[in-house]
Amino acid sequence: MKLIIINGPNLNLLGTREKDIYGAASFDDFFVKMQFMYRELELHLYQSNIEGNLIDKIQEAATSFDGIILNAAAYTHTSVGIGDAVRAIETPVVEVHISNTFAREEFRHNSHIAPFAKGVIIGFGLQSYELAIQSFLIES
Ligand code: DQA
Repeated sequence: MKLIIINGPNLNLLGTREKDIYGAASFDDFFVKMQFMYRELELHLYQSNIEGNLIDKIQEAATSFDGIILNAAAYTHTSVGIGDAVRAIETPVVEVHISNTFAREEFRHNSHIAPFAKGVIIGFGLQSYELAIQSFLIES
């Protein structure tokens, strides 16, 4: 099974960014660990700070991956375009967030993606991504 993690803006700064909220671990180190732990899967990673690039990648991934794990970060709360991209494709998308967005500012309570996602995993730190990976395994 081929899965891709698509990370949105500022998630390239994990490990140094607001460590009290997002933790001190670098995403690249975590990702290598996931690739090792789930070596029966083909796990890919894409990160961009640019909304259009994320939309391009979602469209592209729809024809080349079995599932998408999407943390659109701040664009989750603002981007109709990313929501529409998820709505347009058949490939299952699991929305993830590191922090519990519902325990934070009100503007983070809204998601343009969630209505079109297969499911949403929020607030478990980087483990949110691992739970998303496992959700695809449970199904197969
Ligand atoms: C985030 C939550 C968003 O509200 C925020 O803008 C992020 C990260 C999370 O993973 O907790 O950049 O998506």
